[in-house]
Amino acid sequence: MDVSIIGSGYVGTTVAACFADLGHDVVNVDIDESVVRAINDGDAPIHEPGLDDLVAAHGGDDLRATSDYDAIRETDVTLLALPTPSHDDGSIDLAAMKAGAEAVGEALAGKDGYHLVVVKSTVVPSTTDGTLAPLIADASGKVEGKDFDVAVNPEFLREGSAVEDFREPDKIVLGTTGSERALERLRTLYAPITDAQDAAVVETGRSEAEMIKYANNAFLAAKVSLINDLGNICKEYGVDAYEVADAIGLDDRIGERFLRSGVGWGGSCFPKDVDALRAAARDVGYEPLMLDAAVEVNDRQPERLLALLDDHVDVAGERVAVLGLSFKPGTDDVRNSRAIPVIERLQERSATVVAYDPVAAGEMREHFPDIEYADSAADALAGAHGAVVVTDWDEFAALDGEFDAMADPVVVDGRRIVDRRDGVTYEGLTW
Ligand code: UDX
Repeated sequence: MDVSIIGSGYVGTTVAACFADLGHDVVNVDIDESVVRAINDGDAPIHEPGLDDLVAAHGGDDLRATSDYDAIRETDVTLLALPTPSHDDGSIDLAAMKAGAEAVGEALAGKDGYHLVVVKSTVVPSTTDGTLAPLIADASGKVEGKDFDVAVNPEFLREGSAVEDFREPDKIVLGTTGSERALERLRTLYAPITDAQDAAVVETGRSEAEMIKYANNAFLAAKVSLINDLGNICKEYGVDAYEVADAIGLDDRIGERFLRSGVGWGGSCFPKDVDALRAAARDVGYEPLMLDAAVEVNDRQPERLLALLDDHVDVAGERVAVLGLSFKPGTDDVRNSRAIPVIERLQERSATVVAYDPVAAGEMREHFPDIEYADSAADALAGAHGAVVVTDWDEFAALDGEFDAMADPVVVDGRRIVDRRDGVTYEGLTW
């Protein structure tokens, strides 16, 4: 198929490169000329394992980039993969999506024949029905259901394994008005995946598809907050929450994944999507108590981590090592990383923060230009009066003699990655 993708951000670029690799002819539209040039030169504009090779193999060939929306006329289907950030109150900011939908509509005004537009971005239920589809109809002067259709096909990629997640999805969600033409195109688009393996294909309505994405992320975020709530109780009773989690995870109604308790969830999706869903719920008069509690538990974990440090050292005026800055291992992304509130609260305690992360120090420098960034965990630990572990990078599991160089060998582990050892006062956040 000839596929156009609007937006060369994290999702857009990954999906574009993967569809090219599956045999489609892909054009990626983005207003950023430097991103357009990079893709055409075969350089991935974002860091993601496996993506460099795909963009190098297809960029400038069956994966082309342009800043000209008219390119979509030559394609069968257009995916909208634009960002949906939050307003200050947590509600979804649709400005980029609306502008994108209008630009797509204007380009489609000059197209003969049927076109399918697919909303890939995460949007709250009824956005496609109530806002995006009407915008495309107005801007194109065409009739929905006759000249074009709009479908919703959310993306469930995780950072750090996005290419793999795309190739081997556990589900493909296709939300439509019921239009057989739209479904036919979507099935053809995903045929290289569905022909090769068993991926569940969920054919549903558009608002249901929109909600599935939010429900998926909200459920997982709340699952982690629930295990953190239980973990906090465990800690008070001297119970090891990880042994508890391993056991309850054997109940397949619960499942073993996303039961790692600790300093909480961050990233570009969970916080934004849970907040957008809470705001959308309030918009229609519903008080989302469980989701509010999931956020509250998450917000409190960094303080619990530092309270455990307070039990052993007075950090005022002392060097404290922060190990790990990214929101999870395998990425340099620090958006909503738990390291941010941890560092803020250490600064409130007048500690001198020395931070280490194998890849995310550069990103964190934008938030905290004035703290010290060490080149290794050993350098961060040397002379430190206590250390807190915020990200579960594998290399922290291998630390050993490095703790001997601490001025006060107290380690508070927020991710269960460091082992207990002689000579170190070790506190697990929930164990
Ligand atoms: C998430 C969803 O998993 C993905 O489907 C969606 O498309 C985008 O959002 P991602 O943000 O890449 O993906 O991160 P994920 O691996 O899900 O982890 C999210 C956060 O939860 C991280 O901060 C992680 O450290 C935390 N987490 C996860 C836990 O604290 N405990 C767990 O057991 C699992």
